[in-house]
Amino acid sequence: MAQHDAVDVIRAKRDGRPLTDGQIDWVIDAYTHDAVAEEQMSALLMAIFIRGMSDDEIARWTDAMIRSGERMSLDFDRPTTDKHSTGGVGDKITLPLAPLVAACGAIVPQLSGRGLGHTGGTLDKLESIPGWTASVSPAHYRRQLQDVGAIICAAGDTLAPADKKLYALRDVTGTVDCIPLIASSIMSKKIAEGADALTLDVKFGSGAFMREYADAEQLARTMVRLGTAHGVQTTAVLTSMEHPLGRSAGNALEVAEAVEVLAGGGPADVVSLTLTLAREMLQAVGIDADPADVLASGKAMDTWNAMIAAQGGDPAAALPIATETHDVLAPRDGVLAGLDALSVGIAAWRLGAGRARKEDPVSATAGVTWHAGIGDDVRAGQPLLTLHADDPARFARALEALDGAVTVADAAPEPAPLVRSTIRG
Ligand code: URA
Repeated sequence: MAQHDAVDVIRAKRDGRPLTDGQIDWVIDAYTHDAVAEEQMSALLMAIFIRGMSDDEIARWTDAMIRSGERMSLDFDRPTTDKHSTGGVGDKITLPLAPLVAACGAIVPQLSGRGLGHTGGTLDKLESIPGWTASVSPAHYRRQLQDVGAIICAAGDTLAPADKKLYALRDVTGTVDCIPLIASSIMSKKIAEGADALTLDVKFGSGAFMREYADAEQLARTMVRLGTAHGVQTTAVLTSMEHPLGRSAGNALEVAEAVEVLAGGGPADVVSLTLTLAREMLQAVGIDADPADVLASGKAMDTWNAMIAAQGGDPAAALPIATETHDVLAPRDGVLAGLDALSVGIAAWRLGAGRARKEDPVSATAGVTWHAGIGDDVRAGQPLLTLHADDPARFARALEALDGAVTVADAAPEPAPLVRSTIRG
């Protein structure tokens, strides 16, 4: 690979000139191998944040990130189909979705991450199940996919290692919320994972990375283009994250809600989004099964039990619960007209459900539950929200985050659809 100079690459982007393929390949490779300094990559990321990247640059940047590690090949007797959410508050959809889609006849390889900031991580949620482990060997990964049909586990070090370094650096340099960097980060990992198809849940609104629908749509189009160019059948579903999903945000609390969905109950929005995404994941690989029937049959619950047990978890064990709770009461009679997703996410995080730095521990039991959905009647004095924590000293800061988050009015606004649009590659 031709040698370049980091300062020339930074200056080019700083001055608004597109980076060449050679510059991109070199800078990603050199940074992965510690030959470009953190301060140089920080400057380049900020220049990209301000100047943006063309579609060609994003495609090459993503390619270089994939090539920083191994592109896995998944060779099974059934098609492989995966899902990724850009992250939201109360978003536990992966938990019921992966076993449901596997029970419909596909293979679902879910390499997931831990949460950072106010959105929870799927692995953090599952780690609240006694005995369950996120780390599996490559041989276990293959065997579980073949035998159970679904796995949710931590990605190994060989999956897009450039992204691991870049994501940690973006987190501390104010360069996370940048469409080219988000798209290349997510898609390098998902393409390297090797699934035949990928369904993206791209969120917009208060609790999402992208507050505005137009930005989320641009992110979705960029990711669909990247996936399609790499032979992955990619679909993006754009969904609202103005209000949190379901009735809970917090690790064990969300697992409990996911199990309710698998048992045939659970909040209507979680069930509906799970079925919508399941249909997309199955359609993308040509499987003609109705996930609603499979959910009702109990087969998805059987697959969940097998999936948890295969990773050392006890699906029948009681989930941990917090020792302390604090209720927030409805201020008046009326209908619940608003519940701000970001505020609920920050409250759950401050109670201990999330981490500020990637090495911080998380609490399995902390979180927020809410007892009414948008448009539901509420009576003055009834508990609207419950805060859960093992340390009651955490309640005050969580309550500060919730100041102004709840709106009780005479009438609720016309509900916006949860799914706003779908983009197919
Ligand atoms: N998730 C990722 O994996 N990368 C990002 O940049 C944002 C969300």
